[in-house]
Amino acid sequence: MAFPEKLHLPIRPRRNRQSAAIRGLVRETTLTPADLIYPLFLHEDNRVDEIASMPGCQRHHLESLVREVGEASALGVRAVVLFPKIDDQLKTSGAEACHDADGLVPRAIRAIKSAHPEVAVITDVALDPYNADGHDGLVVTDDRTGELCILNDETVAVLCRQALCHAAAGADIVAPSDMMDGRVGAIREALDEAGHERVGILSYTAKYASAYYGPFRGALDSAPKAGDKKTYQMDPANWREALREAELDVAEGADMLMVKPAGPYLDIIRLLREEIDLPLAAYQVSGEYLMIKSAAAAGWIDEDKVVLESLTGIKRAGADMILTYFAKSVAARLG
Ligand code: PBG
Repeated sequence: MAFPEKLHLPIRPRRNRQSAAIRGLVRETTLTPADLIYPLFLHEDNRVDEIASMPGCQRHHLESLVREVGEASALGVRAVVLFPKIDDQLKTSGAEACHDADGLVPRAIRAIKSAHPEVAVITDVALDPYNADGHDGLVVTDDRTGELCILNDETVAVLCRQALCHAAAGADIVAPSDMMDGRVGAIREALDEAGHERVGILSYTAKYASAYYGPFRGALDSAPKAGDKKTYQMDPANWREALREAELDVAEGADMLMVKPAGPYLDIIRLLREEIDLPLAAYQVSGEYLMIKSAAAAGWIDEDKVVLESLTGIKRAGADMILTYFAKSVAARLG
């Protein structure tokens, strides 16, 4: 077979890829430190603990937390989200510690806001770190069947108190991650009634019942003691339901929406980007982090390149902002 010497091709996409300069001109998606939200773990102990299930992540005490926020901010990461590990003796079936004005989270908010007022402090609103049962909501057990039931409306009342506690301490944005029905509207109303109109709500709109959260639950010791989260978090098989949740969150007054996890749910990110006008966040969760970290530690992939590619993919799919444990390290490289 004779090969043609020359193809008569007026259209050659490779022309736009021939140099770094031209590739820079035609690049459609750029990741910047300002797109990133840095999730941080904290605890009461006076130590900085390496988290066994999330290599490279630490559980901070207040001082090291403030230092870490300052370093991230200097690199251009101006938003953090806080996850507390609560001491066992403070965990109750009513999760009362979640709205203690002197609790770990409100103290951390005040410390960060006074040292780094330029940083947006986002807090997680859910009961799991405080709940003796490890669920995001209040639990009752059916006497007859022994089945667990996660109470909706009763939980929402506690979430409102938790959100108010964070707002009073100076949180800029509260992020309900519990997936109870009606919580965005109820929190909005509670915040407004208390004069916290300026506090925003970043709703975990499409939060799936995902096995990718495993390493995070190790970090906080917050795994459910019994049962799973399938009666409140979404079924990974569903996409129309994500749209329904998004429409409800819009109607209830959410300021920003979130899809979680991110990498395995890029279609959901794209769907909400196309159908909803609100800013959209995506959460590259602990399992996504750990898969990259462990493959890189084994020498099987190039961590720096895979991290950038994974985050660029999430942004390309339609996320305006990304929660990622790589926020600080990637910001240092983005410059
Ligand atoms: C709990 C919460 C979870 C995560 C963020 N908030 C765990 C869960 O729902 O069980 C997971 C984050 C991650 O895996 O990185 N409300």
